[in-house]
Amino acid sequence: MQRKWSSGRMFLFAAVGSAVGLANIWRFPYVVGANGGGAFVLIYVASMLLIVIPLLIAEVALGRRGGADPISTMTTLARESGASPRWRAFGWLAILTTLIILSFYSVIAGWALAYVPKMLMGLTQSGVEHIQAEYAGLTSDPIQMSLWHGVFMVITIIVIARGLHRGIESAVKVLMPALFLILLGLVGYAGFKGDFSAALAFLFRPDFSKLSFEVVLMAVGSAFFSASVGVGAMMTYGAYLPQSVSIWSVAAWTAVIDLVVALCAGLATFPIVFANDLSPDGGPGLVFVTLPLAFSQMQGGFVVGLLFFTLLFAASLTSAFSLLEPAVLWLRTKFQVRRARASWAVGLLVWVAGLASVFSFNIWKDVHLFSGISRFQSSTIFDLLDVLVTNVLLPLGALMIAVFAGWQLSTGMLRQELVPGKATSLFAVWQILIRYLVPIALAAIFVGSLL
Ligand code: PHE
Repeated sequence: MQRKWSSGRMFLFAAVGSAVGLANIWRFPYVVGANGGGAFVLIYVASMLLIVIPLLIAEVALGRRGGADPISTMTTLARESGASPRWRAFGWLAILTTLIILSFYSVIAGWALAYVPKMLMGLTQSGVEHIQAEYAGLTSDPIQMSLWHGVFMVITIIVIARGLHRGIESAVKVLMPALFLILLGLVGYAGFKGDFSAALAFLFRPDFSKLSFEVVLMAVGSAFFSASVGVGAMMTYGAYLPQSVSIWSVAAWTAVIDLVVALCAGLATFPIVFANDLSPDGGPGLVFVTLPLAFSQMQGGFVVGLLFFTLLFAASLTSAFSLLEPAVLWLRTKFQVRRARASWAVGLLVWVAGLASVFSFNIWKDVHLFSGISRFQSSTIFDLLDVLVTNVLLPLGALMIAVFAGWQLSTGMLRQELVPGKATSLFAVWQILIRYLVPIALAAIFVGSLL
């Protein structure tokens, strides 16, 4: 008998913890600003509602029905519904994808962790050159980076090794409320001290001329990654969901909170950036150089900077749990490996795999595996893994979930998970979306991003 979350709220904490991460805080705000502001937000919200939420519902429902890791779950469900046993392949894809994501995710999360002591030691009190040199120094040093990546992995492993209740639940119970408080505090500070109207304009003024097929693809792809859908993480968390909890509401809340946090992250960072006449750069540059610069020019910047990097670290940590758990549960189910041993074994493997991403910033900076293809001419291994995950593995996994839940699993079984007792029109709407709209949209993304 599988263990269960103590309550629906614990599942929600863990699922929101998984969803809210680096994607919300350092990627979303920039992507919005650079791609049409409000127009992009509209598309993003639409894809959350029409594609991501139906998929989340499906993934959690499959997980709860199967009650195990993604490979065992798909094996059982395929057998129960008379589908081809080949559907098990989704389980393999899911475990592979979560481990690949974790391998590079924890490298960046390691930077966030490294910046907590850097802030404590007064990085924001030093000058521009020093802040830039600190970032360059960290990224160019493979030893320092491997260490921080290692420390981050060890913390993740320790939590996962402690199990569902003593590990994940205990951690998210503290980290999630803390995360929301810090975020609110940061938005308040930005509203008070920063240029809020410039940030609002950057984030929300709709510019439909910037919309293109590519931008739509990017919006949908970012929504997937940000909501942690399509990689079996939510399927694994769903396996622990008590039968009495309504999947509709937890899935919808997860997606909505994920979106709100992403918007708040934009409102916490850009007012500060604009108030200091800095340019709204994206990704690593924004978080590790521009923001510390902005903090250094502001009153209270020391505390705000410290809180910001604590927030970034906590958000990525709760995402990492959901990336390690599927493989650990699989080892436990399939080979009866003890949880602690499984966590350390998989965690170590991920750390070693992550070294490829670590080196992409320094000693392998000039290794371009696909230099023959113009699009990837200057892509490092880290860049390639990112593209592989967001453009190929994630949409493929999501497509498989949609087709399996929409066309293979019997409606009776789905009803048992989703509408115990009564038939609702919500179920009918969901079924239409998951059968038609979601697969068509996914197929378009898939083909579109390959071209
Ligand atoms: N959703 C996480 C983020 O926004 C990343 C993630 C993707 C976590 C897939 C688990 C599964 O950073």
